[in-house]
Amino acid sequence: MSLLRSVHIFIFLLLSTINGEYHKEFLISETAKMDLMQLDNELIVNLERYAEKVEDKVAKLQRIVKELRQPLDAAKGIEEEYMGNPLHSFPLIRHMYQDWEILEEFMKQPVGEEQIDFLKKKLPELPWHADAEEASTAIFRMAETYGMKPGEMAEGFIDNVRFNSTLSALDCYEIAKMYFKWGYFKEALQWLINTKTRMKEEYSDVYEVLGMTRKDVALLQARCLIELDLKDEAKDVLLEQPDLAENATNLIDKFLARPYEAVDSSPSLSEDYKRLCRSSFLPRPSRLHCRYNTTTSPFLILAPLKMEEISLDPYIVLYHDILPVKDIDQLIILAEPRLKASEVIKENDSTVSSDRTALGTFLPFEGMNPSDEPLFDRLTQRMRDITGLKVEDRKHVNFIKYGFGAHYTSHYDFFNESNLETEGRGDRIASVIFYLNDAPFGGATVFPRLNIKVPAERGKVLFFYNLNGETHHVEPNTLHAACPVFYGIKWAMASWIHDWDQMFIQPIYREE
Ligand SMILES: *[C@@H]1O[C@H](CO)[C@@H](O)[C@H](O)[C@H]1NC(C)=O
Ligand SMILES: *[C@@H]1O[C@H](CO)[C@@H](O)[C@H](O)[C@H]1NC(C)=O
Ligand SMILES: *[C@@H]1O[C@H](CO)[C@@H](O)[C@H](O)[C@H]1NC(C)=O
Ligand SMILES: *[C@@H]1O[C@H](CO)[C@@H](O)[C@H](O)[C@H]1NC(C)=O
Ligand SMILES: *[C@@H]1O[C@H](CO)[C@@H](O)[C@H](O)[C@H]1NC(C)=O
Repeated sequence: MSLLRSVHIFIFLLLSTINGEYHKEFLISETAKMDLMQLDNELIVNLERYAEKVEDKVAKLQRIVKELRQPLDAAKGIEEEYMGNPLHSFPLIRHMYQDWEILEEFMKQPVGEEQIDFLKKKLPELPWHADAEEASTAIFRMAETYGMKPGEMAEGFIDNVRFNSTLSALDCYEIAKMYFKWGYFKEALQWLINTKTRMKEEYSDVYEVLGMTRKDVALLQARCLIELDLKDEAKDVLLEQPDLAENATNLIDKFLARPYEAVDSSPSLSEDYKRLCRSSFLPRPSRLHCRYNTTTSPFLILAPLKMEEISLDPYIVLYHDILPVKDIDQLIILAEPRLKASEVIKENDSTVSSDRTALGTFLPFEGMNPSDEPLFDRLTQRMRDITGLKVEDRKHVNFIKYGFGAHYTSHYDFFNESNLETEGRGDRIASVIFYLNDAPFGGATVFPRLNIKVPAERGKVLFFYNLNGETHHVEPNTLHAACPVFYGIKWAMASWIHDWDQMFIQPIYREE
């Protein structure tokens, strides 16, 4: 047990060093994605140059062939007579003695070594296996959450929004393989059908170089059909493929004898979560209402807050127009350079977990420019106004940036256990979430057990109690999640207020 734990910690440290020093956050950071596009361009230019070098050599070789062929062409049909001429015998001997040895050297000479070296040098800067896997997982999450069919998605439709982009045959094939690996044979099959319709005959040699042949696609398709108990259809697919037709029956028997054992490591997404995230979801008309809240601080009598009650039990409210645009922009400027892969706290360890594909940082930070301090004083005052709770000076906020496909699976903000954070301060009694930009495509906060969806819109602040205000018992209905962002990014900030900090303003009626 303890060995296992230290191994975990070791791996964590190892990963963070690698993350910190070399690895870029390709999925979340626009800068990293821009760098990647730039690198792609450099590599394409490099490949083009390589092709030119190869072409140069080919052209040279073709000229040599033409040159060498001339005497033979001249001698055609009159070989004996031709060789009688000493001015023909000498060149033949000389040429045979000398040229071929030199040509062997020429043929052996490497081509485009410089370009090969350049590519080799750049390989470590490319995304890793884990990045590619996470990108596929993000696609899976988006497809599952927003109920997208492979065909629609490949054509650029996401949650009924049309984007001007399509997926290539290679992209579809990669997604199909992931679905197959996880045992989603029906979906894998649909992605394979999309792969086939996108494969262009004139590119078949390109696909072959890049690791996808019609044969591979047909084999996987047949395999999916077998897993779906569609033996005849599987056989038809194999018979249609010239290099598999001969062995169709053999292959089917082989597949039948060894059913595929799926490794399902796909993200689990609850039905309620998916339903709420979809744009087709319309909340029930609420009997709750909006009002100007002036009760929490004397200041608010002069500047009341626009408050929208979302739920009374547990208590969830939404405030509008809380932060001035100038402050929001400044918060983003301060946070952006400090963003790192977000950590999910589990028990006493905090580890980077793929449950949460986002970058985060804590504000304010040590060594901050003193001219930014008033911003955090204003932020703290706003939290006090909103919550009516005791909030420490310049309270820390967790700034989070959600990128492509990023989400936060269903979770509670309370811990309901003793750990480093709750020790001495109590559990997180309430949460405050600031939305710093409009995330029109995905990114809403949903409470699956309460049927509540809060779209992420700039300037809004969500406030809810994680513990019951009277008993201080945990509120399991505060289970909440962030829907995947499927276009653009989402900036949000979260802060948690602790129970024991409230000791002098709130009585605790705990039974024990
Ligand atoms: C797609 O392209 C059209 C015209 O090129 C443009 O009007 C439209 O806004 C684009 N849609 C998206 C979602 O980018
Ligand atoms: C068919 O199967 C046999 C035996 O398994 C193998 O030797 C042969 O190469 C296969 N033919 C094709 C076209 O793959
Ligand atoms: C104002 O907000 C505070 C904190 O959210 C809440 O306790 C109080 O009941 C609200 N007042 C009104 C009149 O809604
Ligand atoms: C976490 O740490 C606290 C204090 O050190 C300890 O009391 C608690 O048992 C730990 N929790 C777990 C799950 O290890
Ligand atoms: C909180 O912890 C208690 C005691 O360990 C447990 O019985 C209860 O199910 C937990 N509640 C939630 C919502 O996790």
